[in-house]
This record gives sequence, C-alpha cells and structure tokens, in this order.
Amino acid sequence: MTAPNHNPAASQVLDRVLVLEMVRVTEAAAIGASKLIGRGDEKAADAAAVEAMRAAFNELWMDGTVVIGEGERDEAPMLYIGEKVGAAPGTGPKIDIALDPLEGTTITAKAGPNALAVLAVAEEGGLLNAPDVYMDKMAVGPGYPEGIIDLDKSVSDNVRAVAAAKGVEPGDIIVCVLDRPRHTDLIAELRALGCGINLIPDGDVAGVIAVTNEETGVDMYMGSGGAPEGVLAAAALRCVGGQFKGRLLFRNEDEKARARKWGITDLNKQYDLKELAKGDCIFAATGVTDGSLLDGVKIHKNGVMTTESVVMRASSGTVRWVKGEHRKPR
Ligand code: FBP
Repeated sequence: MTAPNHNPAASQVLDRVLVLEMVRVTEAAAIGASKLIGRGDEKAADAAAVEAMRAAFNELWMDGTVVIGEGERDEAPMLYIGEKVGAAPGTGPKIDIALDPLEGTTITAKAGPNALAVLAVAEEGGLLNAPDVYMDKMAVGPGYPEGIIDLDKSVSDNVRAVAAAKGVEPGDIIVCVLDRPRHTDLIAELRALGCGINLIPDGDVAGVIAVTNEETGVDMYMGSGGAPEGVLAAAALRCVGGQFKGRLLFRNEDEKARARKWGITDLNKQYDLKELAKGDCIFAATGVTDGSLLDGVKIHKNGVMTTESVVMRASSGTVRWVKGEHRKPR
C-alpha cells in the first residue's frame, strides 16, 4: 500500500504523490482489458477493466468516492456511483473520482483505435455529478479567445469564428464527430462549409482531447456523446488548456429525474470547463488500443507488457507521459 505523504508543503487534498499513483490505476485497468482486445466480448473487456481499476484504487491512501462511475448501485456491481474506494476511509484525503475503466468497449472488442482506461479526480465536490445521459459537446484547443465557442450559436457560426481566429477559411477547419445517425444534420452543415470531418466510431474522450494536440490536425470537436465522458474530457482540457462547452440532453422524463436526483436544477444549462471540473483536478489515461493520444497495451516476449499513459494536473498544468514495462514478479 502507498504510504501517506507527510510533507506539509504538499498538503493540498490532491497530494502530489497521488498524481503519479493515478497512472498505476489506469495502467491496471488497461492491462486488465488488454487480454480481451479483439475477442469480440465487450462485457468481458469492461468487467476486466473495472475489476482491475477497483483493486488498484483500493491500494491508494485516500478516502475516495466515485461520483461518475459504472452506473447506479443497483445496475453496477463495482465502481458504482457513490461507492467508496481507497485504503484510508475517514482518514485519507477526501477525493471525488470520475472514471471510465474502459472508454471504448466496442472498440476494444473489435481491436479498433483509441480505447482508453481513464479517470479524473478532484477535491470533494469538484466534478459535476453528471447522470448517464447524452451531452451536446463542443471543444477547441488552447490559444483561442475565451468564449469563441458557444452551443447557443449555429454550427456554421462556431466554425467561422474558429476559422477567423486561426486565420484560415471555414473549409480549412477539421472537426471530429462521432459517426452516428443523430449527427446527420451536423455533418451536412459541416460538409456545406467544406470542413474536413474526422468521423470516429466511438471514444469521444480521445476525440475531444485530440483538439489539444496540433499533430492530430483536429481543430474542433462537435456533437453529442455520453455526459460522463464529457466531464472526463473537460477535466483533461482543464489541465492542458482549450475550451469546452457541454449541455445535458434528455430523451425522457426518467433521465430528467435522474439529473435532478444528482442535484442538477437547470436542465438546459450550458456548462463551461470550470463548471464540469472545478478547483484542482487530475486527469489520467492509459491506452488500451493504439490511438491519437496514446499507444495501446502490447505483450512482448516472456510476457513483458508495455503501456503508455498520460497524467496531468490542472493547478500546475504539468503533463507527464509515462511508459511502463510490466514484468511478472520474479
Ligand atoms: P463505451 O465505452 O461505454 O462503449 O462508450 C463509448 C462511446 O463512444 C463514448 O466515447 C461516447 O461518449 C458514447 O459511447 C456515445 O454513445 P453512443 O454509442 O450511444 O452514441
């Protein structure tokens, strides 16, 4: 078990030691899921990641609460919303956790790109307790004037604003969008502007984060996806810069009731980054399959496994890329 850090200078709730420890947690989940890559079994891949992530959390000196997890208590046996994790309940730092042990279950089952094990942690109350509904999302990378994107404006107006700020034509803008029938109108409007569209089959956490990395060529993220994934992506952008807007989308009264249960009163609110992940926060991810953000888990000779992870902290803006080699105990 990891010992507590007694350095008073680092006594903020999100203790520095925990930053690096979070990588162990996402590594464990990614390695757990990796055995199921390309095996066509989404549920088994997710279950393996969940079990490994939970065990790794319970090694850490903290009093953690899952605020975004695998579902509500009656529908998820492990890492459900409200579950306490960590080895120091009542004594360790109180931390709220948003997690997705396997972001991209279908991708993993099909050995496609960009599956991640991912989590965000913040001080108690720092993460929006987003219900498992859809969220309309829009994101741009760092360097643009504050407020350049707005869900209340049209798709075309947003693209034109970003193009003008970048000094290019709207048709030069590349937008990442989840490939879904519900995005037909969005895609048509982007095509009419001449934009390049990076259509992804799944995995919009990686899709949103792609806007922060010039090498991906992606300027904007647009479209709806899971609200929990929106909070996770927002936590990452809090650390590396960029802008994100999100609005919960409800398909029925039951979903609205679920949101109210988690304390959300304004169901039509457009959330900004700092409302989704406020205060200090940490974001960590390990690649399960190769992707734009991270390489996936690989198994080498003699069973040595390699992982690639990233961990970031909002208060310092530090981003650490971590390559791991995992050997069986000798
Ligand atoms: P899972 O890992 O839970 O399968 O989520 C994958 C994902 O593509 C997310 O990245 C995205 O937010 C969501 O599903 C979109 O939902 P839907 O598949 O219903 O469009």
